[in-house]
Amino acid sequence: MPITFQKENSLFRLTTKNTLYAFDIVKGKLIHRYYGKKAGAQVKTFAEEPGQVWSFAPYATEGEVYFSLDTQPLEYSYFGSGDFRTTALRIRNGAGNSVTGFDYVSHKIRKGRVEIPAIPCGRADDRTQTLDITLRDAASGCELHLYYTVFYDCDVISRYASVTNRSGGDVVIEKWMSLALDLPGHNYDLISLAGAHAYERIYNERTPVFRGNLSMHSRRGATSHQMNSFMAVCDRKADENHGDVYGFNFVYSGSFLNEVEGDPTGKTRVQMGLGDENFNYRLKDGETVFCPEAVMTYSPKGLGIMSRNFHRFANDHIVPAKAKERRPVVLNSWEAFYFNINEDVMVDFASAAADCGMDMVIMDDGWFGARVHDRAGLGDWYVNKNRFKEGLAPYVDRVKKTGVKFGIWVEPEMVNPDSDLFRAHPEWCIRCPERPMSYSRSQYVLDMANPAVIEYLKEMFTETFRDVPIDYFKWDMNRHISEPGSLYLDAEDQGSMEYRYMQGVYSLFRWFMETYPDAMIENCSGGGGRYDLAMMAISSQIWTSDNTNARDRTLIQYSSMLAYPASVMSCHVSNPHGDMHELDLKYKVAVNGVLGYEFNVLDTPDEVKDEIRRQVKEYRTFDLVITDGEYYRLSSPYESDISAYYFQLGDQILLSAILTNGHAVTGRKKECKKLAVRTADPAATYRDTRSGMVVTGDELRRGIEIGAFSPDGSGWDAKLWYFVKE
Ligand code: DGJ
Repeated sequence: MPITFQKENSLFRLTTKNTLYAFDIVKGKLIHRYYGKKAGAQVKTFAEEPGQVWSFAPYATEGEVYFSLDTQPLEYSYFGSGDFRTTALRIRNGAGNSVTGFDYVSHKIRKGRVEIPAIPCGRADDRTQTLDITLRDAASGCELHLYYTVFYDCDVISRYASVTNRSGGDVVIEKWMSLALDLPGHNYDLISLAGAHAYERIYNERTPVFRGNLSMHSRRGATSHQMNSFMAVCDRKADENHGDVYGFNFVYSGSFLNEVEGDPTGKTRVQMGLGDENFNYRLKDGETVFCPEAVMTYSPKGLGIMSRNFHRFANDHIVPAKAKERRPVVLNSWEAFYFNINEDVMVDFASAAADCGMDMVIMDDGWFGARVHDRAGLGDWYVNKNRFKEGLAPYVDRVKKTGVKFGIWVEPEMVNPDSDLFRAHPEWCIRCPERPMSYSRSQYVLDMANPAVIEYLKEMFTETFRDVPIDYFKWDMNRHISEPGSLYLDAEDQGSMEYRYMQGVYSLFRWFMETYPDAMIENCSGGGGRYDLAMMAISSQIWTSDNTNARDRTLIQYSSMLAYPASVMSCHVSNPHGDMHELDLKYKVAVNGVLGYEFNVLDTPDEVKDEIRRQVKEYRTFDLVITDGEYYRLSSPYESDISAYYFQLGDQILLSAILTNGHAVTGRKKECKKLAVRTADPAATYRDTRSGMVVTGDELRRGIEIGAFSPDGSGWDAKLWYFVKE
């Protein structure tokens, strides 16, 4: 049984394949006892290890000075209740104060999981179990459920919660974190993934934890390019294969707050959730609300295991099962033509895709309304008849006759001020009365918290896509939320607008999935601005970044794979400018994920087309090794001039080394001369199907020489080996 409760000492034990998580109930409070390796774990209960007395720490019962919420390692903590550290839940009650304090009432161990209304979450399997703990705050009249869901095989435990108001009046949830974990000691580093548009997750930063609060967040109404929701807390000396590592991530696509706080007593509090700046939820009497799911994993041996646990979790419990069908190799029109598309160009483009052996052509931005540049047309989801004279269906028919599938770009959440939609419904935008709205990419954000907006979009798309055989949608989102307000919601509900916005977005995604069950969705937000587990749960893959420069991409992809699998990482080869070296390099970088192309192959020399044909054919021989295999990092482009890694699926090993020539961001220099495939079968012989080289598994395990690179003067080059057991 993954979850057990020992009545005699009130101890909960949550086990995954290799980890154990434990806490006990003491005086109605949940006290954290252990998170780490299962094998040989020594869990001490509160009775065995009550902790020490600290001056100035409040306590509830006269004489019981040792039992203070300020100094105990807690499972969840409440504002104003005697814990002076950063807290997980703050509810303003009917009396107007925000002091919060819940006590254990009962618990249930459930098969499967508790679904979170209108927010994506991990999919349960036969072994999934959930611990559902009921707590009550007598003063505020609220009931709290803390949920712990165990995903056994991938060593992941998730945390989420719900609050029900039984106070007889309104209460306001002012801060809400899904996950709280008190770790022993301070001697940790924090790893976070910051970035910018076109540089998503490129600052793979490592910062020592100290006695103070480190907070990472998005206040943008989207996960954002600027800070990803993933973080890891690890031993100071932890590396790829050594040291304790705790990994965390949030299954949500809106604003978030991650906190790591060293406390004065020598512990470290880790929290992840909705936070308090962009979330403030009025809960009416009798209502229940859930926070999104946060996930955690533990590795006793470095970052590699953490990543593989998260990859397995995403592949088995997040990404829709249907998305696992072989991902198409696409040719996308954006970097080829930008807004200059029309029917004839796109049909020729589709023929070129077919000629190069690709599976699908994607018609990106520019096909609808007055969208001939980025200052008009968003929101008007009807085909531009100047460009597609007979409408979409006959045009898509022509595309399909070339032998490829068809994908189309949409950006449902947005509107240009210069659009029929905005002229008809200016009140449908995110805005505050009497306050000017900020532009970003000449567009405004639609109020997805308003059901009328969602209904309008459904009607528009239903009409426009009637009888059009679409195989793929690229769902884009090209600005963040400013002036967060909704003309639809009551004044008291304005603070929950962003949360309700995300629920609206998710419901429209679900509608797309149900209405077009044979189509896949590629998520995009100006590249990888919503590169998160919730988006991965409702799409098949994510456009990683608008930056397709091979060197930058090497860094972006390397960091992305700390937390997310290759199966969702959409990687396109962009214009090689007729340079065969650049084409080869971009291909070898792009095969780190789901391969596609994005440039004008119509005016490309024949030798480039021949090479693309060869690449696509070759990719098809090993694509499953990438999307379904296990991933091992060998050399970090942040620490050396070389990015090296391999994927292994049974008898197949795909090994890559990319010379980035001093482009490292952090300057942590290490030399990498040999590539050791430590998981190769020592007794076997492998053949590199690319070069014909034969090596023993033992040699692979000891490491093969990288050898010389042959940079073209730009200082970058890449090598690829595809070993198959003989
Ligand atoms: C931003 C995306 O990241 C690009 O790939 C492209 O789809 C443009 N938007 C279109 O406007």
